[in-house]
Amino acid sequence: MKVVTVACDKGGTGKTTSAMCLAISLSKLGKSVVVFDADNTGGATTWEACTKDDGKPLPFQVVPVNRPKLDRLAKRKGEEEDFVIIDTPPSDTAIINSAIEAADLVIIPTQPSRADTFLAGDTYRSSDKPSYILLTRVKARTKLLKETLKELQDAEFMYFPTYISESESVKRLYGGNETSPQYDKVCQEMLKLLDE
Ligand SMILES: Nc1ncnc2c1ncn2[C@@H]1O[C@H](COP(=O)(O)OP(=O)(O)OP(=O)(O)O)[C@@H](O)[C@H]1O
Ligand SMILES: [Mg+2]
Repeated sequence: MKVVTVACDKGGTGKTTSAMCLAISLSKLGKSVVVFDADNTGGATTWEACTKDDGKPLPFQVVPVNRPKLDRLAKRKGEEEDFVIIDTPPSDTAIINSAIEAADLVIIPTQPSRADTFLAGDTYRSSDKPSYILLTRVKARTKLLKETLKELQDAEFMYFPTYISESESVKRLYGGNETSPQYDKVCQEMLKLLDE
């Protein structure tokens, strides 16, 4: 079993979208997956409810979890799936730390802007697990993207070579059972990082 935690101290950076899309990408590859929703506002849980209401259920379960459940997962107790993907809330340091403690790999989604990369950097530095920034909502060929990449390189942060573009089609994935080609690519990169 491998545990992937999707976390960033900043809100609205694409954590839930990334957790759910990567879980769907993994399922497409025949991996068994469970998503742990550690955010009590329930973004991932509501996503799953939408798919059921629409008669297009997800090929995995989304389970709301608390800190004791994450601490148990850190001891590798209780789960049998190939992958546990943890979606976390912004700002809640205690939950984020427990989710990082349980992780084999930490993915830190961030938009290319100073305000976002600043807080993503906090999350990155607070993690003692292999951690990778995932750039989301990217507008290709912009100054902002160029500057952000330079910032990540200067800070010697690891990041996924594939980024997720700002796109209406990604926004529309919420509540469905489909992923995007870019998330499929990030999923392949993630599997390599996990030696899978
Ligand atoms: N690549 C993208 N292109 C366009 N919109 C996106 C993209 N990724 C995410 N969004 C949108 O941005 C908003 C925030 O995304 P999401 O809910 O995944 O972020 P989050 O980090 O989980 O937020 P929170 O911190 O509130 O839990 C949502 O409306 C989502 O649909
Ligand atoms: Mg969220």
